[in-house]
Amino acid sequence: MKSILSLALLISSASAFFTQRSAVAPPSTQASHGDVPRHRSSASIVGLDASKSKRKVASRTRWSEARGYGTTDDATALSESAATVGVVGRKSGPRLIIAGAPASGKGTQCELIRARYGVVHLSTGDMLRAAVSAGTDVGRRAKDYMDSGRLVPDDVIIGIVKERLDSPDCAEAGWLLDGFPRTLAQAEALAEVGISADCFIFLNVPDEVLVERVVGRRTDPVTGKIYHMTFSPPDDEEILKRLEQRSDDTEEKVKVRLGQFHANVEAVRGSYADIAVEVDGTMRPEEVSTMIMKSIDAVLT
Ligand code: AP5
Repeated sequence: MKSILSLALLISSASAFFTQRSAVAPPSTQASHGDVPRHRSSASIVGLDASKSKRKVASRTRWSEARGYGTTDDATALSESAATVGVVGRKSGPRLIIAGAPASGKGTQCELIRARYGVVHLSTGDMLRAAVSAGTDVGRRAKDYMDSGRLVPDDVIIGIVKERLDSPDCAEAGWLLDGFPRTLAQAEALAEVGISADCFIFLNVPDEVLVERVVGRRTDPVTGKIYHMTFSPPDDEEILKRLEQRSDDTEEKVKVRLGQFHANVEAVRGSYADIAVEVDGTMRPEEVSTMIMKSIDAVLT
């Protein structure tokens, strides 16, 4: 009964979110998500052994308690929030990692995951772009790498992420790492300081689909919302006028970004093989979301 209720909540939460999204995207463009090649029959969740994962969660929770990460009161507060379906009974927030190639849909899915589980969303791409805009030392060191589509050096990003994960909001609400770790050195840096995750979600999307997604992506600088000029454009003229394109979202630069991704991805996936969930990212966003949330719920409950 608990799992039926949980699934019903999941479906209603995903459909409520996308009903909201459809308010800004005309029906014709919503339907155009269907233009993206899909492999529904191969939609898969692999590598997740629920009982094994529960044991891991239990041992991580003990680790977390021993270090003061989360208390019974935190869990009570979380369970009272409608945004934290699926974490009832846990003594600390979920610790999640989402990975995938450039434009595989990580940011799009993070909006939904954050809304449902109440976790702190940590996008290293967003953090670095903010540092570049603010002209900080980190931003100055990162700028040329980002502009050319290369990964910034590990020593620039590792310290920032470790510090952020150590902050009280992450300890209490849990976290969702988006775009980190991206190299073996980054994964090892987390492991060295005892930071582990409950679930590693990998969005699988072929390169040819990714190029089209990158080139058409636009972001609203006011709300941070991600659009696509073909698949999900805004229907509000004001929003349309203020949309921005990232400087690394060109066909030329995405080739460099994909090269960097392929050079590192297997090492990163290998670091999380025991908690990995692979999801077909070519499905419609709401279908991708349903698969992801089922997997997270299976680990957390
Ligand atoms: P980052 O910002 O992390 O970029 P990325 O990994 O290349 O990922 P993207 O933000 O491009 O894509 P996404 O997967 O979030 O897709 P989205 O949801 O937007 O990093 C930028 C740079 O920072 C790096 O190149 C590097 O230089 C540096 N950096 C960051 N982290 C680093 C690290 N750890 N180490 C070193 N350097 C680091 O979707 C894309 C588009 O597709 C959107 O238009 C969306 O509307 C559309 N879309 C999404 N889902 C679907 C769907 N299911 N069907 C159809 N369209 C969809």
